[in-house]
Amino acid sequence: MDTEITLQFLSEPTDINYGGNVHGGMVMKWIDQAAYACASQWCQSYCVTVYVGGIRFYEPIHIGFIVKTHAYIIYTGSTSMHIAVDVYSKNVKDAEFVKNTHCIVVFVAVDADSKPIPVRAFAPTTERQIALRNYAVKLMELRKGVEEEMKQFT
Ligand SMILES: CC(C)(COP(=O)(O)OP(=O)(O)OC[C@H]1O[C@@H](n2cnc3c(N)ncnc32)[C@H](O)[C@@H]1OP(=O)(O)O)[C@@H](O)C(=O)NCCC(=O)NCCS
Repeated sequence: MDTEITLQFLSEPTDINYGGNVHGGMVMKWIDQAAYACASQWCQSYCVTVYVGGIRFYEPIHIGFIVKTHAYIIYTGSTSMHIAVDVYSKNVKDAEFVKNTHCIVVFVAVDADSKPIPVRAFAPTTERQIALRNYAVKLMELRKGVEEEMKQFT
């Protein structure tokens, strides 16, 4: 399906933080890469990140673990694509993945002059896709209040 993408790879010794686990900035990079792959596959053009939100690290990711990033479209506007990203990891010896984080990344498709261009509409069909679309709309509403509050310092 061109609404989602899953990437799997090993966390490497160079991904380490001072505590011996994977650096949070590296996880954010993986999130951005997975979300970009999903968004650009959908709009079939270059796109840029306009918003990242809600990152909460539930569990550390250890070095030498298998990391899985799952990115999927949950909403499209005229030029924007809202992508949910879940990051999982597991010891190579384990059967099950553990969820490490979930967040939302919004991309905007742009032309050669970096101007927003229209994207094709995502029409949710399954019960889960419809629930996720409603979740995206709810988050957009909530963000308006957050952005209003943050205006004083931006
Ligand atoms: C993204 C960018 C092209 C948007 O340009 P703009 O002139 O502000 O465009 P618009 O106001 O028309 O908004 C374009 C879309 O972004 C969305 N958007 C703008 N601000 C947003 C925010 N805070 N959160 C979510 N979406 C947002 C708008 O809702 C709109 O989506 P829609 O067309 O689906 O309704 C411009 O802000 C930009 O270039 N930002 C820098 C991007 C960047 O460098 N990213 C990091 C590296 S890739």
